[in-house]
Amino acid sequence: MSPGRFITVEGGEGAGKTTQIAFIGDYLQRAGLSVALTREPGGTVLGEEIRALLLGHRHEGMALTTETLLMFAARAEHLERVIRPALAAGHWVLCDRFTDATYAYQGGGRGLALAHIAVLEDWVQGDLRPDLTLLFDVPVEMGLERAARRSAADRFEQEEKAFFERVRAAYLQRARRHPDRYRKVDATRPIAEVRAEVECILAEWLERG
Ligand code: TMP
Repeated sequence: MSPGRFITVEGGEGAGKTTQIAFIGDYLQRAGLSVALTREPGGTVLGEEIRALLLGHRHEGMALTTETLLMFAARAEHLERVIRPALAAGHWVLCDRFTDATYAYQGGGRGLALAHIAVLEDWVQGDLRPDLTLLFDVPVEMGLERAARRSAADRFEQEEKAFFERVRAAYLQRARRHPDRYRKVDATRPIAEVRAEVECILAEWLERG
């Protein structure tokens, strides 16, 4: 059996990831693939508990090192219990955020040295990297407006605008650095248009094998 492929979905707040990821899952299933849909931080029982610590408001002043290690602790659990077994069993894993989010938020947003993230990435993941990463890009103001309409702000969403500008810049820089696996999608457009573009990207990518 051939191993599955690993697809990640990234973007700032209010980029419409959650809506689009459901469409992506449907599209891959219609193409006859078995898809495991999951998210970070989270995706396991322990990972979801770590998510609650990270996103909740009980630990507002959490140290950046703690925040980063918790992201990778949740990721280690996720890789061991969900992602690696699913890929080995031939399933395609579709993950709402992964290590690119650590580079964007803890690296770009909070200023953690990227070299520290790279060390954790190599340790926790070995040579596992996403095969394809879809980056849903929206200007910060538009994304924050959309996110505010959706729900109360979590610990990240309450950051100031400049933080999200740095997050966005870091994502765009990573997309430029890894053009082989990144596809950037203009997510300012109506949902149906974004969906149509994503389906074209997937069709072309699947065809390439
Ligand atoms: P979301 O699932 O609604 O996108 O929320 C997850 C939040 O966690 C989001 O604000 C980004 C943040 N995050 C990081 O800061 N670093 C990471 O490595 C990951 C996976 C998420």
